[in-house]
Amino acid sequence: MERLIIKGGNHLFGEIDCSGAKNAGLPILASTILLDGSAYIGNLPHLQDITTKLELLNSMGANINFHEDGFIEINSSNITLPEARYELVKTMRASILVMGPLVAKYGKAKISQPGGCDIGTRPIDFHLAGLEQMGAKITSDSKYIYLEAKTLNPIDFNFPKVSVTGTENLMMAATLIDGVTVLRNCAKEPEVVELANYLNSCGAKIEGAGESNISITGVSSLEASRWNVLFDRIEAGTYLVAGAITNGHVKVNKIIPQTIKILTKKLSDMGVGVNVGENYVEVDATSSDIIAQDIYTEPFPGFPTDMQAQFMTLNSIASGTCIIEETVFENRFQHVSQLKKMGADITLDNNKASITGVSNLVGADVSASDLRASASLVLAGLVGKNKTQIDDIYHIDRGYECIEEKLNKLGAEIIREPVVY
Ligand code: UD1
Repeated sequence: MERLIIKGGNHLFGEIDCSGAKNAGLPILASTILLDGSAYIGNLPHLQDITTKLELLNSMGANINFHEDGFIEINSSNITLPEARYELVKTMRASILVMGPLVAKYGKAKISQPGGCDIGTRPIDFHLAGLEQMGAKITSDSKYIYLEAKTLNPIDFNFPKVSVTGTENLMMAATLIDGVTVLRNCAKEPEVVELANYLNSCGAKIEGAGESNISITGVSSLEASRWNVLFDRIEAGTYLVAGAITNGHVKVNKIIPQTIKILTKKLSDMGVGVNVGENYVEVDATSSDIIAQDIYTEPFPGFPTDMQAQFMTLNSIASGTCIIEETVFENRFQHVSQLKKMGADITLDNNKASITGVSNLVGADVSASDLRASASLVLAGLVGKNKTQIDDIYHIDRGYECIEEKLNKLGAEIIREPVVY
């Protein structure tokens, strides 16, 4: 176990490169199960979830090679054990992404019940309903879900609620189903579009990704291809908030600014100077008085739930009062109690938080409860007076590559130390 110790109060200055997106890399890795031959995937972030996914593929029989140019070669075309073991995937909900590809390519799958961040009940009923409608026979026990199908049929499926991994799972399965599958009320997230683009580069016929309705015409096989994973829009947004909250000047490179338009607009509305280039965004808050702004989380292109916690920290030191309403997950305010320990003035009413800005936060001993909540505590620590200690940081390592290295490069003072009991 490790913890982060942050000495707050430094203004952050400088530039950093954004890493590849975990939420784009994970489905792309799962999709290699559908392919014939070796896929070469680049710009994968060095994160625990990516390592777990590679171990998972390897445990099923895939061959994995790390190349000097940074690309990872994955050959999942000879899976011998279509099983996602409990020990490997209990901490990673995205393990369920192998379900659609396994049943489509190998006719069966045994998948551990998903784990991951504790931000709500997070059912997978849409994934299962879609696969069942495709013809898979599904049974389960407390630890595993079992799927079997001789052949799958094309379906016309309407998601009752927008689901990112649900869209990805069914879209992947449909690529190898004879006929035309139509998925309605799909997630429009850039990571869904990225997966469709990747699969199309392998020979799939997916149309409409990024819109509500996606249509997939099945093909008999898919050839593996070479691909660089999309940048991480949540990482980029987190570092921009770090610049803003410390009254600093931070430039985040290697991104597509259009994709994070909603975040840069919010920062600008909060009084932060925002400069948008072709592949970078910089924030200048050196002379800004941050003004509180309401936030309402929604599926893309709305404000991302994965940035809610970080903007709550920013609002907690802003002038004025705002409301943050979380509409995607029912239990995503676990950072509130920790931010309050640091002096934030926040009142909760079900899925709404009312935040009145205070002049400064104060360092405290806090604990990370989930991935994005831990990012919000790091941001609080950057601005908080004195020292902040954050425990349970394994959550943050699931989603942020070298977070203390990147922030220290910008002038933060963060150390990681082992926890000795
Ligand atoms: C993905 C992201 C996660 C992000 C979330 C919302 C990955 C690996 N993770 O998670 O970072 O916070 O999108 O942008 O890409 N739901 C159901 N039944 C289902 C599926 C979902 O009721 O079968 C509900 C969920 O409980 C939630 C909502 O739909 O309330 C959206 O969840 P979903 O988009 O599926 O989230 P994930 O794909 O798990």
